[in-house]
Amino acid sequence: MTKESDMDRPLLAVEDLHVAVEGKEILRGLDLSVSAGELHALMGPNGSGKSTLSFCLMGHPKYEITAGRIRYRQEDLATLSPDERSRRGIFLAFQYPTAIPGVTIANFLRAALRGVRGGDVPVKEFRQTVKPHLKALGIPDAFMNRYVNDGFSGGEKKRLEILQMAVLSPLLAVLDETDSGLDIDALKTVAAGINALRSPQRGILVITHYQRLLNYVKPDAVHVMMDGRIVRSGGSELALELESKGYEGFRPSGASVGVGS
Ligand SMILES: Nc1ncnc2c1ncn2[C@@H]1O[C@H](COP(=O)(O)OP(=O)(O)OP(=O)(O)O)[C@@H](O)[C@H]1O
Ligand SMILES: [Mg+2]
Repeated sequence: MTKESDMDRPLLAVEDLHVAVEGKEILRGLDLSVSAGELHALMGPNGSGKSTLSFCLMGHPKYEITAGRIRYRQEDLATLSPDERSRRGIFLAFQYPTAIPGVTIANFLRAALRGVRGGDVPVKEFRQTVKPHLKALGIPDAFMNRYVNDGFSGGEKKRLEILQMAVLSPLLAVLDETDSGLDIDALKTVAAGINALRSPQRGILVITHYQRLLNYVKPDAVHVMMDGRIVRSGGSELALELESKGYEGFRPSGASVGVGS
């Protein structure tokens, strides 16, 4: 439960974050603050460090915080294991979700829900929890018996991510390119799924390359990330500006030109 006092403070506060992967500095002084009730969009060229930020938020051991910090509801994230992060309500949808042959979506989702709740979830209750979300996302019931991401189309994988998010009902959701590879109908369904999850308690960070998602999901803020830090923040007009100018127009003068260098 979110306490009243938490509502006034950012849910997520990333402060001067520096992160290295295998000795190479990828994030170089990133600042980002997301409050409960807000939806932020993070945009940036390939290799700018967007996925690195999301892995770091989830506590992937390969990503080493060399300076700065991440606070989540006033706690220092670095002190929490990935499991504890999930239990505290952080959800991350990966850019490249992995297949888990042999594990059905139903078993996977139920185990995830058990993990987040820290207790058993009876089958009947589980079915009741999932049913309305399947309907809203246009996912047939039979989908629940398929193996996780095994042979899924790109669009099916992305719908599954939204289904997971809806079922787990996180406080902070980070969606890494949930819109990529979607046809226009799937994009609308996924956008509707994201919009349905907007709530005064929840913060959502959407990582995307395309302005088109933002035609359906109205962000409270848009951030442009380049070379491991945020170079501009603004409203949805920033995404439109990006579309017309490209990223070069956002590069701080004197910065290097190589992507991800
Ligand atoms: N596990 C890793 N091992 C080695 N290099 C890595 C690793 N993770 C990230 N990097 C490097 O960090 C840089 C940033 O990668 P990242 O995946 O965060 O970019 P991105 O902004 O998500 O790009 P894209 O838009 O293509 O998804 C890249 O140069 C990448 O090669
Ligand atoms: Mg990425």
